[in-house]
Amino acid sequence: MEPSSNNNLLAQDKNWIAPLYGKPDIDLVEGKGSYLFDVNGKKYLDFVSGIAVNALGQCHPAIVKAMQDQIGKFSHLSNLYPNYPQINLAKKMLELTKFDKAFFCNSGTEANEGAIKLARKYFSRKGETDRVQIVTFVNSFHGRTFGALAATGQPSLREGFGSMPGDFVHIPWNDVDALKQIVNEKTCAIMLEPLAAEGGVMTLSDAMAKTINALRTEFGCLVIADEIQTGIGRLGTFLGIDFYGIHADLVTFAKAIGAGLPLGAVLMRQPIADQLRAGDHGTTFGGNPVACAGGLALVNIVSEPTFLESVQARSLELKKGLNALIAKYSFLGTIRGEGLLLGVTTEKPVAEIIAAARTEGLLVHRAGANVMRLLPPLNISREEAQEALMILDHALAKM
Ligand SMILES: Cc1ncc(COP(=O)(O)O)c(C=O)c1O
Repeated sequence: MEPSSNNNLLAQDKNWIAPLYGKPDIDLVEGKGSYLFDVNGKKYLDFVSGIAVNALGQCHPAIVKAMQDQIGKFSHLSNLYPNYPQINLAKKMLELTKFDKAFFCNSGTEANEGAIKLARKYFSRKGETDRVQIVTFVNSFHGRTFGALAATGQPSLREGFGSMPGDFVHIPWNDVDALKQIVNEKTCAIMLEPLAAEGGVMTLSDAMAKTINALRTEFGCLVIADEIQTGIGRLGTFLGIDFYGIHADLVTFAKAIGAGLPLGAVLMRQPIADQLRAGDHGTTFGGNPVACAGGLALVNIVSEPTFLESVQARSLELKKGLNALIAKYSFLGTIRGEGLLLGVTTEKPVAEIIAAARTEGLLVHRAGANVMRLLPPLNISREEAQEALMILDHALAKM
């Protein structure tokens, strides 16, 4: 039995919160670094990181300071006025990625909506008004609002919501021939996650990356990279597209970029920005100054070369340890993923593994139908990585 809070938290959640998530009976009250603590003082090593949001764990001093400093000045101005928190984060992100202009919003789905709209507007302003087709992938995940949901390659998530925006096609992941057949001079954009995380931690093949680049050159279509989960160091490179060598025109961010507060971003190349006019798109809350200040503190740390080297080192250590667990437990299959976005396929129900790990003091999550997903903070120590493997071993032994 998991520790239950005195005031029956889960029962209250069921009473007051819409039933859109299956939640465990756990009352988390505090976080520090890679650990979360429940109301009874039980410690959990957090390999979920708020679904890849808390890239430097909880309460990182540089982030706390940056946010506190900013909230003492102003917490919101709207996008009617220029402000330095946005400009400073945009400048840093653009310097690091070699893109040209930034648009800030609030979330991943909103970043993807923005990118889709900007891609279509770009061609329409150039007079190519029928260039609207967006090619995405089966099992991809791009968000829950209508445009992003239309892009998402999981029909079950669209069920019951009526008609979707048109001109989205989904082709099988890594199917080079299917992509070559579908992309033509009417294609507005190929949209992809460099590593399809929610769909089951599926890595991109080298052939597919090369084909995307070649079709972009041949047909002049845009490439939209959804870096909402892979971006900002998660794969051991600052961008996931750097890991796979993909040339993109628009890149979307959320999750890690807000350092724990809601923030999304679209980075674009200059020719796209050149086609935009005031009023084409917008948001009231997007680019919140406190989130941008925290985001800059985070990006400054993550973009250090030694930091990204440590992400790669932890990844190798975890992969080695996971391979040892796979050798020990026959119901485990194979490792998936790169950097600190890792998965292990399993024949036993993932929900049971997640629950067993939680009982032992490790939080992990799922991806797709049968993949246990590990998303630790990017700054976990070698000792914490080893501790996670040990806890996982204990949990698996009891199954
Ligand atoms: C790759 C990807 N795109 C988009 C989204 C949607 O982001 P949000 O939940 O912030 O709208 C997610 C969320 O998991 C994601 O992983």
